[in-house]
Amino acid sequence: MPTLLVNAAQVVTCAGPPRARRGAELLDAKILTDAAVAIESDRIAAVGPQPELERQFRDAARVDCDRGVLTPGLVDSHTHAIFGKPRHEEQELRASGLGYLDIAKQGGGIHASVRDLRARDEDDLLALALPRLRRLAAHGTTTVEVKSGYGLSLDDELKSLRVIRRLQAALPMRIVPTFLGAHEIPLEYRAAPRTRDDYVALLVHEMIPRVAADGLAEFADVFCEPGVYTLDETRRILGAARANGLKLKLHADELEPGGAAELAAELRATSADHLAAVSDAGISALAACDTVATLLPGTMLFLGRPKQAPARALIAAGAAVALATDFNPGTSPTVNFPLILTLAVSQLRLSVAEAIVAATVNGASALGLAPETGQLATGFSADIALFDIGDIRELPYWYGDQRCRRSWSRGKACHG
Ligand code: NIG
Ligand code: FE
Repeated sequence: MPTLLVNAAQVVTCAGPPRARRGAELLDAKILTDAAVAIESDRIAAVGPQPELERQFRDAARVDCDRGVLTPGLVDSHTHAIFGKPRHEEQELRASGLGYLDIAKQGGGIHASVRDLRARDEDDLLALALPRLRRLAAHGTTTVEVKSGYGLSLDDELKSLRVIRRLQAALPMRIVPTFLGAHEIPLEYRAAPRTRDDYVALLVHEMIPRVAADGLAEFADVFCEPGVYTLDETRRILGAARANGLKLKLHADELEPGGAAELAAELRATSADHLAAVSDAGISALAACDTVATLLPGTMLFLGRPKQAPARALIAAGAAVALATDFNPGTSPTVNFPLILTLAVSQLRLSVAEAIVAATVNGASALGLAPETGQLATGFSADIALFDIGDIRELPYWYGDQRCRRSWSRGKACHG
């Protein structure tokens, strides 16, 4: 039986071409009033004037939106949700003056999460991840990318990816798995007899082929950053990933400009993420290709860094900008995607429409899913969020709040 969502104050459709939006296209989130949305099984059957849809879908089950706002389910295209314990102690260390990479040099940071994850089994990690993903869903996210990357050995990375596979079976959200075996150089590959080159070789010749053969990931990602993976190593790792049928993502120019955005463009990666320190050449390179520029303002906020990504310059140059939470235990422990919209408006200087499109259509595009999700339009997956607000501008306004009342993923209840 079809379902009809009625009595919404606004229906924010983001309807339009099934690809990333750029420039002035970002300014129009296509907001309807007096509109309804019809769902049939896992698809959106129609979006349009409520009286018309009420005639067309006479027998539908009605959901009263009670003057709330309907949006496409939010698409969080960058998270590191598979981890063990939180790393709250590092927040104070940074406050006292230590940098993110200083903490990593002392064996903290990603290494602390690696030690912790290696000691846990799959069931334990699943039990930790399930409520975390439910919290992401509780804020309106219906599609989420989840990376491995705290294992950094063949077995521990496979373990993390198998947890993601079990999450896919256990939850209604759409979950996109990414292999991030190149999140750091593991500590045991930093001194003789084993070198970082040996780890890159392990990634290229063993880990990536095995992950691909087991069908455990759609994307491969590398933390390409001065002090972590070099441009040359990134090229080798992502070359192997592509040869094994994986799509590409990069953690690019997060802390220092290192040419990673340019490399992402050269490799035609699906997305280049972070970009807080992207150079002018990097901006031009991204503007000239299909690679989505995914901005993660929660990370810079939480790290207490003064400079956010140059979102306005990226949009002005013509880059396709997306937003995501970067949910992870070290640099962005938030599950609240609407809070990222707040930061997008208040810190990145996006309009509300730009922020919403960046969190839906463009997030979907950053996962290669723009023809499937990210807009409320006939034929798209029924991925929908209902917020307790009367105007979409209230979503970034009530910052830190939890206004999502219900959501649907592929037509099934996802939250509420
Ligand atoms: O996106 N930059 C690398 N990875 C994460 C941080 C991971 C961590 O600190 O645990 C990020 O910020
Ligand atoms: Fe990240």
